[in-house]
Amino acid sequence: MCGIVGYVGKSDCVDLLLDSLRRLEYRGYDSAGMAVFESDTISIVKKRGRLNNLIKSLNEGYRPCGHCGIGHTRWATHGEPSDINSHPHNSGNVTIVHNGIIENYLQIKKYLKNKGYRFETETDSETVAKLLDYNYKDNPIDAIAKTAKQLEGSYALGILFLDRPNEIYAIRKNSPLIVGKGKDGNFIASDVPAIIKHTREYILLDQNEIAIVKDNSIKFIDFYGKNIEKEILTANWNVESAEKNGFPHFMIKEINEQPEAIRRCISPRIKQGNLDLGLSNLSDEKFSSFEKIHIVACGTAMHAGMVGKYVIEKLARIPVDVDIASEFRYKNPIISTKDLVIIISQSGETADSLAALRLAKERSVFTLAIVNVVGSSIAREADSVFYTWAGPEISVASTKAYTVQITSLYMLAIKLGEISKTLSNDEICELCNEIQDIPNKIKYILKNDDNILQCAKTLQNSHDIFFIGRGVDYCISLESSLKLKEISYIHSEAYAAGELKHGTISLIENNTPVIAIATQTDLYAKTISNVKEVKSRGANVLLLCTDKSEVDSNASDLVIRIPNANNEILLPLYSIVPLQMFAYHTAVLKGCDVDKPRNLAKSVTVE
Ligand code: G6P
Repeated sequence: MCGIVGYVGKSDCVDLLLDSLRRLEYRGYDSAGMAVFESDTISIVKKRGRLNNLIKSLNEGYRPCGHCGIGHTRWATHGEPSDINSHPHNSGNVTIVHNGIIENYLQIKKYLKNKGYRFETETDSETVAKLLDYNYKDNPIDAIAKTAKQLEGSYALGILFLDRPNEIYAIRKNSPLIVGKGKDGNFIASDVPAIIKHTREYILLDQNEIAIVKDNSIKFIDFYGKNIEKEILTANWNVESAEKNGFPHFMIKEINEQPEAIRRCISPRIKQGNLDLGLSNLSDEKFSSFEKIHIVACGTAMHAGMVGKYVIEKLARIPVDVDIASEFRYKNPIISTKDLVIIISQSGETADSLAALRLAKERSVFTLAIVNVVGSSIAREADSVFYTWAGPEISVASTKAYTVQITSLYMLAIKLGEISKTLSNDEICELCNEIQDIPNKIKYILKNDDNILQCAKTLQNSHDIFFIGRGVDYCISLESSLKLKEISYIHSEAYAAGELKHGTISLIENNTPVIAIATQTDLYAKTISNVKEVKSRGANVLLLCTDKSEVDSNASDLVIRIPNANNEILLPLYSIVPLQMFAYHTAVLKGCDVDKPRNLAKSVTVE
């Protein structure tokens, strides 16, 4: 959360920084600001609220002009969204933008107050600017190294020193930061989409490394001033991937990209019915040694993990626990060296997931990361990485990242089933063939848009919507409910269908919408019984079932059908798609800001 960017080069930096901030807005949009070197001064313009407020202020008020600057888009943690709490923060010679949380900021504040500093904001970030200023004598590296040693928590920092014109300094700890190498200048940024319009070449900044970025050079040095050689990486996608390409929102673009994203995830791993995961450090022998699996993640990624539990337990008969990362890390989890810990994360930077990974590693438990962003912290620190290859996901509400996470878990479950011999060669071959057909089936589902839009029109004015399902359909209920409530602000809950009568059914009254997901043959009749229970209490039921299900017209008011699968364990990938579309249409009909729902951020790099 929070996005930072910096540019130094031949171009005027204001428009360039604004464009990069636009691409980083998914990391937070409580305020935006920039600092620009102008002859012998650094000009700062910052505004509460969306980036458009900053643009308006630059158009109507003072607009700096220069070739070197840093910018910030904020997701507020310490201090309300306000002009004064916005970044950049300045103190004397130093101006900074910060992503992260300084945990010992109160102690630092006290320390600096005793030295005569006065504080104007409620933020933790202001203490960094003042501490750097206090530590700065005449050598930026010494000041940064000394400051870094005094800071606790997480930070990615872009720093300008007034007496070092046209130089950007950067450092990070537990928050992401890359350095971009362009033709007409160089960059720092929280992630690649911010700079992809200008360059595909970038370098990952590691912990305890300082980057010194000038218009014609980039240098990396350690805290003792020693040079560090770094590898230049090339992003394998282009600017179109990070833009809307004619779609009104990123979310619907990303929903429509799912067939292609899943194909990219599958094709290097399944060829002619054969599965080869190609995972580093994970031999068949290592795979066969795992007695238990712990899947740890946050948000939508955790919901993907819940589907993974059903799939792995069914196909490989290995017990799987699923934990929310923020719970796992503080519960002194029971994990052993015979276990496998799988961390799932789109961004690979989620603070709690990263901490859970580190905890597992401290206990010498093998860690596998299922991650989308290449070179992210979780990807780099895990013992083995399974890249999902979904391409950049910009919409805060995750869609394609979720379906590729589930696709990855299918492939992993098949591998485990092969090794534990719970699956025969024929079964593996059939499953692999069917998985390869998933993109086509999803393309077919995406064509059902009119029916889904009609369902959204019918239910858009609801105050509460309940989702029910059993087994894997319960996992899909949880994710569908999250999608709907996070972007449309309609209150929604998901229940295991059989659990409804233990309390929740008292909330059902005339016309309460209930969305029932019933795709699994062995559970169909049971779920329909629960549907009838709510129907007889006045519920307005939308039933999601497969093409082959017989639908009793007394049991539903609206129906969405998905194609059937030979192996029904694959159906979650079909059932989630119309419900993502349903959430999307409902939010659009209600006039919500679909890609940037209030209070949320895509990449949560604070705990
Ligand atoms: C945030 C996002 C969610 C995402 C979760 C985990 O809450 O809004 O969409 O599922 O973080 O993110 P990760 O990058 O670890 O998958």
